[in-house]
Amino acid sequence: MSTPRVLSGVQPTGSLHLGNWLGAIRNWVDLQQSHDTFFCVVDLHAVTVPHDPAQLAADTRSTAALYLACGIDPNQSTVFVQSQVSAHAELGWLLNCVTPLNWLERMIQFKEKALKQGDNVSVGLLDYPVLMAADILLYDADLVPVGEDQKQHLELARDIAQQRINSRFGSDEQPVLKVPKPMILKDGARVMSLTDGTAKMSKSDPNESSRINLLDPPELITKKIKRAKTDPQMGLEFDNSERPEADNLLGLYALLSGAGREAAASECAGMGWGKFKPLLAETVVEALRPVQERYQSIQADPAELDRVLAAGRDRAATVANTTLERVKASMGFLPGTARS
Ligand code: AMP
Ligand code: TRP
Repeated sequence: MSTPRVLSGVQPTGSLHLGNWLGAIRNWVDLQQSHDTFFCVVDLHAVTVPHDPAQLAADTRSTAALYLACGIDPNQSTVFVQSQVSAHAELGWLLNCVTPLNWLERMIQFKEKALKQGDNVSVGLLDYPVLMAADILLYDADLVPVGEDQKQHLELARDIAQQRINSRFGSDEQPVLKVPKPMILKDGARVMSLTDGTAKMSKSDPNESSRINLLDPPELITKKIKRAKTDPQMGLEFDNSERPEADNLLGLYALLSGAGREAAASECAGMGWGKFKPLLAETVVEALRPVQERYQSIQADPAELDRVLAAGRDRAATVANTTLERVKASMGFLPGTARS
């Protein structure tokens, strides 16, 4: 049996936050040992909402640098930028032509984002999950580690592969595409906002204090935690539906201190918020310190980052172009890809 393949990606929009780290990237790091791992910066997804070109370029580099700073090792993983492998856009088109429109209209994230955009909703925003399916299917990925919010998009990718490509253009013995599985870890899969324990921590929340970014300086982290929403009760606890903030912040402490849920819950059961918050702030600062230090040294050597991304692009393109050719052949396109 060959080593199972993993693919995942994060959009280079703004700074990555604790939710991205604990819900996604942290899991990637562990998978590198046992899996054939591909991690991309999904910049084509970042232009589905209005964007600033200079910011996109800076965010694409900084997101790649953060992958490395979080522990993604380019000797073990293929790290690349989505737009530099043209097969993503090409397979995206082919999948568009077999995906029913109403599958996309059902997507919760589309509905939420479209609501925020008012009249200015691009076709790309609706089409985003098809591009995401292309990202995954190009690499014959077995597993896709993502946060809970991406589960619906993964189901769509599976449906497109199985019902729209394999069953129409392949056979049981010779499927065209591999049908991937989601990989959603329980702990950290959903980190909630600091200002509302019922809303997900998100890059798109206009309130900066709602999230802790991985590059926030210690003073800012401390300030955000100090201001985080609380409730009038003493003692931190899990799983009390009336206390979503307590559940979320205790969960962060359990994960980032390394104590685990049980030990954290008993340690903090009798603690008031006034004692818990400084403890949490210190824990978050210490957990992020090594990531921030590595990030600074990676950004100090842009030529090395360029080399990592160029090598990643070449490795990714080799795999992606092979799959693209297979899909095109199955659909009746003449062989031959433009190559330099
Ligand atoms: P995004 O920030 O939407 O580009 O998401 C990038 C990755 O981080 C995806 O795998 C998401 O599922 C994950 N993610 C984003 N926000 C959170 C959150 N608040 N909690 C857990 N995972 C998250
Ligand atoms: N849609 C994902 C998100 O918002 C990002 C993404 C794009 C992705 N392509 C992917 C994640 C492929 C995993 C695999 O988080």
